[in-house]
Amino acid sequence: MSETSPSGPVAVCPVEALPEGEVVRYDGPGVGAPISVFHVDGELYAIDDTCTHARESLADGWVEDCAVECPRHASAFDLRTGEPSGPPAVRPVRTHRVEVADGQVVVHVGTPRG
Ligand code: FES
Repeated sequence: MSETSPSGPVAVCPVEALPEGEVVRYDGPGVGAPISVFHVDGELYAIDDTCTHARESLADGWVEDCAVECPRHASAFDLRTGEPSGPPAVRPVRTHRVEVADGQVVVHVGTPRG
């Protein structure tokens, strides 16, 4: 799989498939690397799914205080900025702008969350 992601909007799921407190992992057409979309406190947050430390899936992590804790070594990534809380991960994950359009959760791959 390529590490580079194409840019552009990608419909990842119907909005009703992503209720509050849930996450959807998307690895389909239009993205070069898996993306996860989290629904936290009424907001949607899209980030790269793969932990920058040792490639764990962040969709399997725990969410608290608008951050997802990696299930392998417990670095927590801020869903708003992608920044890790501390080691062992030192590099941020990418964030992506996300919106709801025509009943779909749409991720603008390559456009950082504003
Ligand atoms: S794999 Fe995520 S912190 Fe190590």
